[in-house]
Amino acid sequence: MSFRIQPTPPARPNRCQLFGPGSRPAIFEKMAGSAADVINLDLEDSVAPDDKDAARKNVIAATHDVDWGKKTLSVRINGLDTPFWYRDVVDLLEQASDRLDQIMIPKVGCAGDLYAVDALVTAVERAKGRAKPIAFEVIIESAAGIAHVEEIAAASPRLQAMSLGAADFAASMGMATTGIGGTQENYYMVREGQQYWADPWHWAQAAIVAACRTHGVLPVDGPFGDFSDNDGFRAQARRSATLGMVGKWAIHPKQVALANEVFTPSEAAVSEAREILAAMEEAKARGEGATVYKGRLVDIASIKQAEVIVRQSEMIENG
Ligand code: COA
Ligand code: MG
Repeated sequence: MSFRIQPTPPARPNRCQLFGPGSRPAIFEKMAGSAADVINLDLEDSVAPDDKDAARKNVIAATHDVDWGKKTLSVRINGLDTPFWYRDVVDLLEQASDRLDQIMIPKVGCAGDLYAVDALVTAVERAKGRAKPIAFEVIIESAAGIAHVEEIAAASPRLQAMSLGAADFAASMGMATTGIGGTQENYYMVREGQQYWADPWHWAQAAIVAACRTHGVLPVDGPFGDFSDNDGFRAQARRSATLGMVGKWAIHPKQVALANEVFTPSEAAVSEAREILAAMEEAKARGEGATVYKGRLVDIASIKQAEVIVRQSEMIENG
């Protein structure tokens, strides 16, 4: 075991991030009224190039005019390979209200990408005397992003969350699919004539979780494109939760309840976790490091596993 203690990530709920195009201000109030923990107003790929200036103005106005309640308010800026991103950062930092919590940087490929945005953000914050420092979140959605995922996770003290962006990731990797997350028809194994589907996103998710947990960042699963497929969304979200991710994007309002359902620990899971903690307290009183709970081994590691669930549940209740 390393002597370095694993840092704790930001203690705020991040079960669902609801996206909406910055060029569609008519839905902003609906987004604010949703049950999503995080709102992502988009200036990037859901906004056509000719609409970028108008979308930026809409989003800045919405930081002043819309009541976002206790939600984390984040704006997705354009990628560093575009001519739009510096204006996004400068206008947001100069003109948005203090209600703006976070900016999301898409398509990050290396730690230097965060350094560049951090330098610009820091300069504008100082010039404008902004009291509240802006947090960052990033999307891993390229071959370079996943290859450099750990240095990215460590790149800026502003970084709070990291998402997997399945569509751009698949394109960058040259994956033979146009699906946005979920089961892919041709990713299967065969045994005795039967097909078994595996999960092509698994390794990238696991790499993101490991990098995030090492550096105290929240790991998040990105979009699931087929918003008519509730079972497919649930299955993808449950796999992500099992791997250690804390939430998932919604690209349509109907996905918010699904994400909240999966990423809120169930009552049964929380009471089982509390029972495990109680069983281990009793074991400790007997001077034992391991005991039996419902016919299975629980030991000191089980305390940590159970505490993950109890802490998550308490944080959501208090959030
Ligand atoms: N947030 C909140 N409300 C939304 C919404 C969103 N992202 N998208 C649609 N709605 C509202 C609609 O206004 C409509 O409201 P109404 O019942 O009051 O009329 C209701 O939800 C149903 O909408 P629906 O007709 O099913 O969808 P649509 O055709 O209007 O929009 C999308 C569908 C996918 C284009 C739209 O949801 C969207 O733009 N999603 C986000 C895309 C995005 O940001 N992508 C970038 C990240 S991948
Ligand atoms: Mg993308």
